[in-house]
Formats: sequence, structure tokens, C-alpha cells
Amino acid sequence: MDTAYKTDMMNKLTNKVETMIGQIGDKSPHVAREDGKYDDLAHNWWTSGFWPGLLWLMYDVSGKQSFKDAAWEWDAKLERCFAEHPIGLHHDVGFQFLPTAVIKYELTGDKEGLRIGLEAANYLAGRFNLEGGFIRAWNTDNAVGWAIVDCMMNIPLLFWASRATGDPRYKHIAMKHADTFLKYAIRDDGSVCHILSFNPESGEFIEQLGGQGLSGTSSWSRGNAWALHGLAIAFRCTGELRYLNAAKRVSHYFIASLPDDHVPHWDFRAHPIEAEERDTSAGAIAASGLLELADLVPADERRIYANAAERILHSLAERYATWDRPEHEAILVEGTGHKPAGQNVNVSLIYGDYYFAEAFAKLNGWAHRIF
Ligand code: GLY
Repeated sequence: MDTAYKTDMMNKLTNKVETMIGQIGDKSPHVAREDGKYDDLAHNWWTSGFWPGLLWLMYDVSGKQSFKDAAWEWDAKLERCFAEHPIGLHHDVGFQFLPTAVIKYELTGDKEGLRIGLEAANYLAGRFNLEGGFIRAWNTDNAVGWAIVDCMMNIPLLFWASRATGDPRYKHIAMKHADTFLKYAIRDDGSVCHILSFNPESGEFIEQLGGQGLSGTSSWSRGNAWALHGLAIAFRCTGELRYLNAAKRVSHYFIASLPDDHVPHWDFRAHPIEAEERDTSAGAIAASGLLELADLVPADERRIYANAAERILHSLAERYATWDRPEHEAILVEGTGHKPAGQNVNVSLIYGDYYFAEAFAKLNGWAHRIF
């Protein structure tokens, strides 16, 4: 991918997101279907940070005031959920407050952003199960002892909180959770499961469960993407080689499992795989994570991860983007939310859009990180 192509893509993304501001308005988007209209979900839903995150990202890349203005109120809107929908919030406060309150504070110095970001970090730290060494995922009664792979992308909120306060306890919790994940979730071949089940009282590990993947022994592609990206960030934040090596192992498995057009099917072990839906969001999350990894490894290894990321992004941009449908409110199509539950299959997903833009921002030299 040459420099002109990368610049052209960033320009296209800037124009697209500017148009999306008018189309999306006050909505809190998660899914867009055939008609190209994003839905509008309650602010406590786990994806509510990605639209404002996209706006903050584009502001940081372009300096355009319109992006900042559209992003500004979102951290306060999401904070109200702590009082109004406390059961609706869970470990995904990382996904919700890193791309809103935290980036707002980091980019503008806004003290409210700092306060709200720390409120979310305290909430996340409070979900730590001391005996099992994991952060509890969801709030349902059957999930008291469950940890899930997605949380590897929520613990950067704790790494950030330690940096912001000078108090290492947040980082200690994040590392304990990451170590539990290394021990029980990553298989020898580099694949990962979605859910880890523990006895919440004794902390004893029970089993791997399929969750949004096909089964407890399958390999949900978005889960693998969250894992490789989160592990790369954990290495960046701690310098601990065990996280770097695990990030490489999961990445090698991910890259080796991609089909000919480099965009993953929703589960690498679904079969016959050709008949299964893609999940473009998994491709976008992994591409941004692979670029993170490329930045962290020695120069002679960099091309392995950077080239893989560029192959995925090129395919997403050429085959799965909505450039020729200006009325479409999303950037990517063919995402899969939760296939086993029959929910949100072959749709646009706001987090796919976010990580696609984040990856192209990185390719264009965006070096700001919100962790
Ligand atoms: N719950 C996070 C995901 O669907 O990837």
C-alpha cells in the first residue's frame, strides 16, 4: 500500500465521518442493516463509546473543530448511566469511557474527562475477583464467575488510570487479569476462546465456553482480534515480554486462518467455512492491533505484522466499504455481531467502523494513544 493510497483513504474517511455527523445526529449507533440507517441504542449499551471515539479520532487526525464539537458532550451523557442504568454497565466501561472521557482529557486537558475516566476505572477495578484473578464480565446471575476475552481491550482503562494517578493498583489488577487470560484462554496453537468460567467463590478454573463463538473449542474471530490487540497494548503499557510473545502467537494464528481475501469469517472453525458470514469488524480490530504490534517489535519483524494489517485493510477498503453509497450511515458492511444467537448477522457494526478508521489513522502516522 503506497503513501498516496493511505492519504487518499484518510481523506475519504474524513469526508465520510463529516457526512455521518449529519446523518447520525444524536443517535447512539450500534448496527446498520440493508437500508443503511444506524439504530439508536440506550447509552448504557457496550458500544456507545465508539461513535464519539470516531469523532475524537478524526478531530485528532484532522484538527477540525466540527469533530470536537460533535464529540464533546458524550462522556457526560455516558456518565449518567452510572446513576440511571447501573446494572446495564459492566466490564465494557473500557470500551465506553476510553474513547470518550479519557481521550477528551488526553487531548484537551478537560478535568471532567479525567474525573469521569477515573470513575469508570474505579468501577472496572471493583469487578475484580481476588480468588480467581479475573475481572468479572457481565452482570447476569449465571455470569458471576465469567471472564471474557473482550476484557483484554477494557483493561487499558486500568493502565491509563495508573498513569493518570500515579497509583499502581489499577495496573496490578490489569496484569493479574491478563495473566489469568494467558493461563486459561490462549491455547497452544494461538487460538482463544470467548468465555472463561471460574468458581466465583474459590476462584478455581472450570472450563472454556463458546459464547459468541461456535463452541468452547472453536475460535471466534473477533475474540481472537480483541486478544491480539489487547495483548499488544498490555505489552506497550508494562514492557512484560510474556504479553508480547502471546500477542505474536495469537497474531500468527489469526493471520494463518484468514481466507483468500484476508477478511475473516465470524469463527475460524465454522464449517464449511466458505458458506459462513464474514465479520469485517474482526478484520478491522485485528488490523489496528497488528499495526500496534508492528510498532512494538524489532525492525526486522515489523513487516510480518504491518503487511498483514495492510492486506486486511486494503481488502476492507476495496470490497467491504460504502464509498459508493453516500446515503449509507456506516463505513463497513458484512459485520457479524452474535451468530450463535442469530443476532446482527451480515450488518454494519459501529466498532468495525471505529477500528477501520483507527487503523488507517495509524498508517498515516497517528501516534496518539489513549492508554
Ligand atoms: N461483546 C463484544 C463483542 O461482541 O465483540
